[in-house]
Amino acid sequence: MKILLLGGGGREHALAWKMSLAPQTEKIYVTSGANAGLLSFCEDTGIDAQDGKALAKFARENNIQLIMIGPEAPLCSGVANVLRNQGLAVIGPDEAGARLEGSKIFAKKFMHKYGIPTADFEVFSDPAAARSYIERNGGKCVVKADGLAAGKGVFVCQSKEEAFEAVKATLEDKVFGAAGGEIIIEELLDGEEASILAFTDGKTIVPLESAQDHKRVFDYDQGPNTGGMGAYSPAPVVTDELKKKVMEKILLPTLKGIKEEGMDYRGVIYAGLMIGSKGVNVLEYNVRFGDPETQAVLPRLKNNLVDVFLSIERGRLADVQLKWDPRPAVCVIMASKGYPGSYTKHMEIKGVDLAAALPDTVVFQAGTVKKGERLLTSGGRVLGVTSLGNTIKDACEAAYKGVEQISFEGAHYRRDIAAKALAKN
Ligand code: AMP
Ligand code: GLY
Repeated sequence: MKILLLGGGGREHALAWKMSLAPQTEKIYVTSGANAGLLSFCEDTGIDAQDGKALAKFARENNIQLIMIGPEAPLCSGVANVLRNQGLAVIGPDEAGARLEGSKIFAKKFMHKYGIPTADFEVFSDPAAARSYIERNGGKCVVKADGLAAGKGVFVCQSKEEAFEAVKATLEDKVFGAAGGEIIIEELLDGEEASILAFTDGKTIVPLESAQDHKRVFDYDQGPNTGGMGAYSPAPVVTDELKKKVMEKILLPTLKGIKEEGMDYRGVIYAGLMIGSKGVNVLEYNVRFGDPETQAVLPRLKNNLVDVFLSIERGRLADVQLKWDPRPAVCVIMASKGYPGSYTKHMEIKGVDLAAALPDTVVFQAGTVKKGERLLTSGGRVLGVTSLGNTIKDACEAAYKGVEQISFEGAHYRRDIAAKALAKN
């Protein structure tokens, strides 16, 4: 079977790696700009992931039997609709479903409508009204740009001053352009975060094993937010009891909403959770696999991922039984100097093969390019090293052993990935 994968980062490397292990996979094609890890075993179409028409033409001409959409941007711009309209088999929600990620206001209203627990919120487009709301509520809050802002549109504010800054940046300085034309101001919740990803075909919803991301750039959750500096799975904070609650109060009502809103949702829905003094609340939806969560979760999945995707596409998810490796996985991201601000590029990377040769360890590339025989950095997040271990401690030690094999100038990574899970053991 020939497969087309949209997107070219670490998440996509993990997806392609897992799909390549399926016996029916003959060839995987990728879109332009894919990293060197993907290009070492996938074929470049040279087509932009946003160009639905060109992708549909390519897929028809090349007898592509499965298309997997990795990132949110093509989902939010309706690429799944364009491909499905041509009779192609696609994993990813339609444009209506993708609004759950593409508009935070839409997502909050959806959660309210279907009784899904989430922080209280108000919507603003007028800065003066936003400021007076902040004054009335004492300053502590979270300000969120409505639209897609590459993970940068959320400001967790501990004071009135910080909240005013966030209102200025979004509504007045328009640093996110139209994506920040409207904002949400919501209650700041305490607790521990976890990511629950679930497969759905629009009729059935099946959670994957839990994961925890590490959003801040520095150890002990210091410094600015990033796309994610590491992940582990499972997240001990997601106990069996909590899993039941998540199914009942979050995933099933989400599925109900998907059905009632008439979305064509065949793909992955991701609920970012906060578990704390106010119970479990949804901070956000993503309409795709998380990055780096996918790099920690997929190595634990025992099923043939292509079969799972085909079942989803055909509306037969109810027939699928997911099987998991009980061993935990830890993924440590190595990033370029300066990330998440402006970062250096084209540093030579050494040692990837040495790390990948370690037992139960995989290296997923994210921001890399090949120049001749040399592997160079080309993005903020450069690669992720994932290891499985009998305990979370073993997995963690193995992943860091992998990281130590790899070097490039200015490389930085967090040293405390999975520390929260270790503390619970
Ligand atoms: P989001 O993109 O909505 O998940 O927000 C990014 C990050 O901001 C989350 O992973 C949390 O760390 C933080 N955050 C978002 N909403 C809240 C909230 N209501 N209370 C506390 N932290 C939040
Ligand atoms: N790891 C967070 C995300 O994928 O959005």
